[in-house]
Amino acid sequence: SRPVGKGAEVAEHAGLLVEDVFHDDEWLTVRWLDGQQSRFPAIWLRDNIPSGRHTREGQRLFDIAQLPDRITLSSAALTSDGGLAVTFDPEQIQDVFEVAWLERHRLDRAAREARDVPPTLWSGEHQEKLEFIDYDRVAGDPTELAGWLRTVRDYGFALLRNVPTVPATVLEVVQLFGFVRETNYGRLFDVLTKRDAANLADTSMAVGAHTDNPYRDPVPGLQLLHCPDSDVEGGLSVLVDGFSAAECLREDARPHFDLLREHAVAFRYTESGSVDLRSAAPLIQTDPSGRVLAVRYNSRSAAPLDMPVEVLPRFYDAYRHFGRLLEDPSAQVSFKLGPGDLMLLDNQRVLHARTGFTGSGRHLQGCYADKDGLHSTLRVLEGRG
Ligand code: OGA
Ligand code: ZN
Repeated sequence: SRPVGKGAEVAEHAGLLVEDVFHDDEWLTVRWLDGQQSRFPAIWLRDNIPSGRHTREGQRLFDIAQLPDRITLSSAALTSDGGLAVTFDPEQIQDVFEVAWLERHRLDRAAREARDVPPTLWSGEHQEKLEFIDYDRVAGDPTELAGWLRTVRDYGFALLRNVPTVPATVLEVVQLFGFVRETNYGRLFDVLTKRDAANLADTSMAVGAHTDNPYRDPVPGLQLLHCPDSDVEGGLSVLVDGFSAAECLREDARPHFDLLREHAVAFRYTESGSVDLRSAAPLIQTDPSGRVLAVRYNSRSAAPLDMPVEVLPRFYDAYRHFGRLLEDPSAQVSFKLGPGDLMLLDNQRVLHARTGFTGSGRHLQGCYADKDGLHSTLRVLEGRG
């Protein structure tokens, strides 16, 4: 290994990635072969020392509270086998980072942006690209399954056909990537036309665009709907990209967008004597950088708005504006779920609706699932485990 002093001493490193490294007390700077530079603060490096973990990339063995207030770098040197040896003061701890690990964790803006997988926003033109994939292909081939899950990650929904019309098969579809989220509706629920329906779902009426179950905390991240049987006129499924609508709102009317992310809307679902579910959250949730994280919208279960009274008139303008973007046919795609068809939705992004129908022979079976399991399975299938 060759020590690198304070300043810009160049190391002729045999490794493939690094041109040279420099350090002062507080910062390590790595100049990569592509000409980019990354800086790493001493405290960040100390926090991430390889020997601080139970196994390679395993769980951390210490707590941030145990670290000294002021950590500095006393040396940093490339090793001949692709490592970077670093010594920290005041503890005089030495450890060796893999350069390839540092490369994967670069903190420069370009690298951080490259690691990001932003959603692919869509509108009505996406109709041309709708694709129902054969269940057997997805169930029998990990590459096909990864592709199908990637569609959910990027577009917020994916479709299947030729799913067996045997009842409860939707639960087998969940097992391809994750776990059922059980609710008071059961592990599995039926959407069936009923005479004395308690839920609008069980009538033949149209149901407007919505995300499901906004009255839960947390909201179910995924919804699956499978059609074992249908022979009705109408009853189309309609989907709209809530993230795309939120971005349109941000562009058209920033004050409306801000109102919807700054004020919580209360949602409620009750069944007398047995259920009283309530949750309040903004219709548009953003992260600290302003990126849209989640959308919830459901007229059927929105409770009376409960927010400062002087905000309400403006809030209603914003709410209606968003509702019209979501109901705009040019934003929507539609298809009919026939026997053996299934849709998987990101319930915090893509809203679904159905048109009214005539006849009573329509049966859907659905369930909810968590999104983390889907993303975990996708990463493992992609070999990024
Ligand atoms: C619902 C619903 C879908 C359908 O009731 O929440 O989305 O196609 N139903 O019946
Ligand atoms: Zn629904």
